[in-house]
Amino acid sequence: MTSRTLPAAAYDRLTAEVARDTGDRRSAALWIHAGGLARHAHDHGLLPLDSRPPGPDGLLKSLETLASCHPALAPFANPAVLPVWSQPLGAAVWSAVDEFWAGHPGLEDEHLVDGYALGDTYQLLSEEARKGRALCQTPPWIARLLLRLSLEPAMEEWGPADARMIDPACGTGHIVMAAFHRVRVPPLRGRRRTLSGDGPQAVERALAAVTGVDLDPYAAALTAYRLLASSAALLRIRLDALPNWPVNVAAADSLLDVDEPLLRAGAYHACVANPPYITPKNAFVRDRVRAAYPQVATGKYSLALPFTALMLERLAAPGGYVAQLTSNAFMKREFGRRYIEEFLPRYDARWIIDTSGVYIPGHGTPTCILVHRSRPPEGDKVAAIRGNRGEPRVPQDPAQGLVWRAIEEAVESRLARDRFEAALKGSILEQADAAPTM
Ligand SMILES: C[S@@+](CC[C@H](N)C(=O)[O-])C[C@H]1O[C@@H](n2cnc3c(N)ncnc32)[C@H](O)[C@@H]1O
Repeated sequence: MTSRTLPAAAYDRLTAEVARDTGDRRSAALWIHAGGLARHAHDHGLLPLDSRPPGPDGLLKSLETLASCHPALAPFANPAVLPVWSQPLGAAVWSAVDEFWAGHPGLEDEHLVDGYALGDTYQLLSEEARKGRALCQTPPWIARLLLRLSLEPAMEEWGPADARMIDPACGTGHIVMAAFHRVRVPPLRGRRRTLSGDGPQAVERALAAVTGVDLDPYAAALTAYRLLASSAALLRIRLDALPNWPVNVAAADSLLDVDEPLLRAGAYHACVANPPYITPKNAFVRDRVRAAYPQVATGKYSLALPFTALMLERLAAPGGYVAQLTSNAFMKREFGRRYIEEFLPRYDARWIIDTSGVYIPGHGTPTCILVHRSRPPEGDKVAAIRGNRGEPRVPQDPAQGLVWRAIEEAVESRLARDRFEAALKGSILEQADAAPTM
């Protein structure tokens, strides 16, 4: 059993119980989650503490220690990020939290040190993040395909040690974590691997290559923790023993914060995201985003559209890849007209994949995958995968769903054909060069 199969009602019941003590559901969700986070760090021997101190004060001690291990973890000691510092919890209610995590199956699965379950449980606990900011985890199997079509070709083009990627709506970091491992262990396909995937150099290179930004400061801090926890576990050391390598994660409004250094223009060879699809609820924010992105934000626009503009127009280096799992509502609603007719045609579309028939847990909205390059259109071909039907039944393992598997196979066969054609073209050109001239 994994965290995904623990009933959502169990999280809800505990949050309601803790909220009676702390006063609100937001602080309750964060008390509970921080309990799981500290347990994760202790269970993996990542903290410089001999054992897990008991009680709510013990959790604060663990968080303080965690925050002191690396500057990127400092937000865990900040009451504005984590209200555990300002809204205390009684010892009796804490016992319920502790028991919940003690029997929680999600902290024991094979992705343990990557913290996948920590990301998923944050989504289950925080109604505020789900409803207010559209937090919805991107499953690792979707992240892998997005990276296959963006970061991987970017690594081939700009070099495996030099390509840089960003997820400007990184949530708790599922895409960033998948990218970290992609860079750490570069794919072998078609060529000899020149970089080793193990050891400090590989970890340092992977940390330098990936960037995540999110509006939610706790989710961003969790992304930083996951990157560092995974790095420390790979190197078999504690968090405080890691060299002072920078971690490129920030809490910021990616659409509006023009001063955030990680959002500098033209810095990324791959921009990969599962952006929020909601319409901003706050009228002030809605108008500010509309004013900043008039080329796409018309009518009751979805935030997914300004995110495409952010990635294609600002963040991507010239020719950089932009891959997104996004809502397909723009194809059906009035707000998509300008986006389809005027905005997207200015860029080089590479892939359009209908994923509306794929079963993606937690994603009620029909989706598609779009891959563009940040340059004017080249050639006269776009690879499109049309969806003829949905899953006949909810697949037990969504990654093995019939529709998803068919999409993966179609992508691989198209990429194999492209490689074959490129090799053939190369050898014809070579022969032409070698042919004697008359
Ligand atoms: C669909 S979730 C992305 C989930 C992420 N890929 C993961 O697997 O954890 C969308 C994310 O966008 C973030 N978000 C919403 N508006 C944002 C903004 N203006 N700037 C940065 N992040 C934002 C939300 O906080 C949420 O985490």
